[in-house]
Amino acid sequence: MVVVLLLGGGARESALAAALLRTEGTKLVVLAPNANPQLQAWAHHFHKGAVTDPALATSLAADHGVELAVIGPEAPLGAGVSDELRKAGIAVVGPSKRAAQVELSKSFMRNLLDRHKVPGRVAHGVFDDPMRAAEHIHALGGRVAVKPLGLTGGKGVKVSGDQLPTEADAVAYATDVIREGIGGAHQVLIEEQLIGEEFSLQVLTDGTAVVPTPAVQDHKRAEEGDLGPNTGGMGSYSAPDHLLPFLQRSEYDAALAALQGVVDGLRTDRTPFQGILYGQFMLTTDGPRIIEFNARFGDPEAMNVLPLLRGDFVAVCRAIAKGGLRDVVPSFASEATVCKYVVPNGYGYTSDSGHPVHVDERAIAQTGALLYYAAVDRREGGLFTSASRTLGLVGTGPSIAIAEQVAAEALRHVHGKVTYRKDIGTSAAIAARVAHMQALRQGGAPPGQPRADFKSSRPDGGPAEKPKA
Ligand code: AMP
Ligand code: GLY
Repeated sequence: MVVVLLLGGGARESALAAALLRTEGTKLVVLAPNANPQLQAWAHHFHKGAVTDPALATSLAADHGVELAVIGPEAPLGAGVSDELRKAGIAVVGPSKRAAQVELSKSFMRNLLDRHKVPGRVAHGVFDDPMRAAEHIHALGGRVAVKPLGLTGGKGVKVSGDQLPTEADAVAYATDVIREGIGGAHQVLIEEQLIGEEFSLQVLTDGTAVVPTPAVQDHKRAEEGDLGPNTGGMGSYSAPDHLLPFLQRSEYDAALAALQGVVDGLRTDRTPFQGILYGQFMLTTDGPRIIEFNARFGDPEAMNVLPLLRGDFVAVCRAIAKGGLRDVVPSFASEATVCKYVVPNGYGYTSDSGHPVHVDERAIAQTGALLYYAAVDRREGGLFTSASRTLGLVGTGPSIAIAEQVAAEALRHVHGKVTYRKDIGTSAAIAARVAHMQALRQGGAPPGQPRADFKSSRPDGGPAEKPKA
């Protein structure tokens, strides 16, 4: 028997719980901010409370004889929860507060990459003088990403041709970031604009050994065709060969080398990273380039890789926490996955939340799809939406197209004031992404047009028109 403390209450944590419970004899103690109905049902003990409270986490661990803790989100890492649990003698999947700065501090991350010469770095400059920032933007041809140095919950990043239509807009935003201290620091980070296709690669690591997982493509935009505001992620897919339809083996390996470089750099700096390191990359014609790192599984990306994991996940977690991951390397099934998030109407703008949502769990199970609840509360009278994402549905199968059909079939059994992106994982959307990358490789796409235009692909789901050479 092993008692595992799991922190977090989203669909990522539901997927983590399901993976942990596949190991016989696992008992879960869950600390979550919301009454996630699956975590409530699956936990031996469920505690609704702040995941950022180290004293609460350590007292729960002591009360229930916890041996291993798995930390889902990043906030507890920043609050020192992993450090306090380790001090209490518990094996923890989740890096120290110091090592988690790879996600929590852009300056820490850029500095680490530069010192250890990690491949895939992006040219950047940090400025506290609006004039110097303007000169730098001009020197980069006005094609930049402008980022506050502090944390803005993903809302502070603006990119040329997207939220910043002109060079003057980029200069104006950089000036605002400096003058108004957006993100908490009167400094702005200016990067060259990367053009290509984004993807995520997550690795499990004990601080030395690195175990890769299948590459995933997330969809951050609220609306179909990659329109609307950025969100926490509307859904994601992965392919049976663990690459992506636009991503070649050598490019996957280059991204993996960047992640290994970060793990090695942190170990050399005496801040070893034990947990899940998530790299967000832009595949450019020069190979994958680093956008950011997360010190945890992605959400939704956890829902793509965890259902494919074969082997004893509890043993893998113990090895991440204590070392020896090299000896318990898990494998991942050669299947495709498509995850679609169901979200409250208006999510990404202003969520219309607090409404009942009806989920026919039995009918969903019959489709073969996996269901993971997220920010939904079980109250008297059933399940109710909150402002954040409601639930994830994951189809698996021998191809992305089949996995997409399974997820789409399952979506018919969820009703309420909720919505989702139909296009994620469809053949038309994927063909458009492949065509976009192909056009870039052939030098055909104009700069400043990073997003694939789904309307250019055939409505029957066939391959997109071949781009002009
Ligand atoms: P972040 O908050 O760092 O994840 O950035 C949000 C989004 O901005 C990313 O998902 C990318 O689509 C985009 N982005 C960030 N940095 C760059 C860059 N240097 N070039 C182009 N797009 C970027
Ligand atoms: N899917 C993006 C993230 O988890 O941050």
